[in-house]
Amino acid sequence: MMHFLSSMEADRHIADADVLVDIAHVLMLNKQKINDRKVTRDILSALLEMHDEGIPEEAFDERFEDVHAGIESLLIESAGADTGGRMHMGRSRNDEVATCIRIKLREELLKQMVALMKVREVLIALAGKHTESAMPGFTHMQHAQPTTLAHHLLAYEQAFSRDFDRLNSAYARINLSPLGAAAFASTGYPIDRDYTASLLGFDGLVTNSMDAVATRDFALETLADLSIMMTNTSRLCEELIIWSTSFVKFVTLDDAFCSTSSIMPQKKNPDSAEIMRAKSASVFGAFTSALVTIKGLPMSYNRDLQELTPNIWRGMHDAKASLFLLSDMLASAEFDTKRMMDEAGKGFSTATELADTLVRSFGLPFRTAHNIVGRAVQKGSLSLAILEAAAHEVGPDISLKKKGLTQKKINEVLDVNYSIALRKAPGGPAPSATKQAIKDCKKKLGVDATITVKRLAHQARSRETLIIEARRMVA
Ligand code: ARG
Repeated sequence: MMHFLSSMEADRHIADADVLVDIAHVLMLNKQKINDRKVTRDILSALLEMHDEGIPEEAFDERFEDVHAGIESLLIESAGADTGGRMHMGRSRNDEVATCIRIKLREELLKQMVALMKVREVLIALAGKHTESAMPGFTHMQHAQPTTLAHHLLAYEQAFSRDFDRLNSAYARINLSPLGAAAFASTGYPIDRDYTASLLGFDGLVTNSMDAVATRDFALETLADLSIMMTNTSRLCEELIIWSTSFVKFVTLDDAFCSTSSIMPQKKNPDSAEIMRAKSASVFGAFTSALVTIKGLPMSYNRDLQELTPNIWRGMHDAKASLFLLSDMLASAEFDTKRMMDEAGKGFSTATELADTLVRSFGLPFRTAHNIVGRAVQKGSLSLAILEAAAHEVGPDISLKKKGLTQKKINEVLDVNYSIALRKAPGGPAPSATKQAIKDCKKKLGVDATITVKRLAHQARSRETLIIEARRMVA
């Protein structure tokens, strides 16, 4: 029964955070004169020892329900019942655990944001090298219109940039303190919630004490955001897998990211991309599991919440591991731009441009032009003779030759690079447009880096100040 109820294994993720929460709480109890200085000093010196030396393994013994109980017990053992027994006033494990989860999660989230920025940085750098590298663009996985590798990579960069924004906005809702909510009804002790919140580096409170212990929406939104991010990761991996097949051969992944077959000596398999594609499923699983755990829970704390927590760490772990590898996998990939160029013009991929030319230079309505070119494609050629025949089928009195269409003009507009260069509207594949897009991406990445660095510094500073404050008290 004890083993069944225990959260010890997952509590390893939040044990360090628990010591910080204890320290902040004890400093607050002293400031509010709920505990005297002597008791405060004795508890703090035991807690600082755990902070400095590490939490004794005994605290994780399954005879304790969880690590919060384990740490408190050790404290009572070392400081004595009359002292150690005065730490847990004015709070409950319900607000304690919620606080610990938020502290650990915000730390993990920043690592995730750093990993995302790294991927974006690599995508932007690659795009910079390939603004002139033509390749086929696809819809329905059929050759559609030519584009460039830069354009394709920047599409992913934009998706990852939105993933960053989502996590960044989740961060603001995670970094609020539930501490002081106690079991759910707060406490009769004259506590100072703002003080503990600021000691722990939170930006504010989860004010309603029932909400504070009951909600895990901050975890759900993080897992939802990670799930969306993993859809983007998985799509990119899927493309890399397709591109590395011998049919397509657009890319060669570095050996470090591939493995061989135990029976077929010639094989080189894109395993890393495949595992990342599958890790997305694992993250969705963590999200689904957390979501479903919450949905039937009445207010306020229910033990079910304990089962939700490991999903946060699992989802975060798989997402982060994938993203950290993805940047190196992309950076070391070799793109075969000649092969891409060869394919760029296939499948009548510049037919749209020809239809547009019939509109722009020869005054045809777009639908008529689309019809004529479509018929010529069906006949298997976009030569002047075939186009002329197709035009006659569409309207007996239409003659493209009479309108001045020449074979030379056709060849010019069917050229892949001509078609790309024309598409210079913002966000298009023309080198002028992708160069501008790269500038914009770099600028946003810079802003995002500043936000992240600020948050990292704030976390580090508040942690440092908390410990200094505790040491000062003990001294
Ligand atoms: N270990 C629990 C959790 O992870 C926190 C303790 C609350 N336990 C309780 N019996 N109220 O959610």
